Amino acid sequence: MEFVQHLLVLAHLLGMAAIVGSAVFVARGTATPALLWGARAQVVTGLLLVGLAEMGDDPVNHAKIGVKLVLALAVAGCAEVAAAKARKGQGERPQLVQAAGWLAVVAAAVAVLWA
Ligand code: HEM
Repeated sequence: MEFVQHLLVLAHLLGMAAIVGSAVFVARGTATPALLWGARAQVVTGLLLVGLAEMGDDPVNHAKIGVKLVLALAVAGCAEVAAAKARKGQGERPQLVQAAGWLAVVAAAVAVLWA
């Protein structure tokens, strides 16, 4: 079970790297597949990690999880809308892409700094 948890943490960190790497550092303004799938992955891997944490003995910080969930849903929403507009030929939505990237940075800060 611990190995599964470590694999999920790895996937969670790769999801974050895909979002922040794409939206903040590399393809600024463009809704790339990395951004879209990274955003989806954060919600799924995050919820699975919470499920595993609830099965363990240590207390789970529900307030922190709630804040991260809201941020991750906002990231995914921005990424989905930007990608859908681009797919339909309605132009790029650079502000939405930037918002997704920076909200993910805030979520990472919450993850690391909220002890
Ligand atoms: C864009 C969204 C997200 C980002 C950037 C993000 C980032 C991170 C990072 C950097 C860590 C490692 C922190 C550390 O070990 O000190 C982490 C851990 C964790 N995250 Fe997220 N996260 C996101 C969304 C979520 C969501 C939506 C949930 C749950 C609903 C979640 C639940 C967790 C849990 C339970 C851990 C602890 C894993 C462990 O070490 O046991 N995360 N997250």
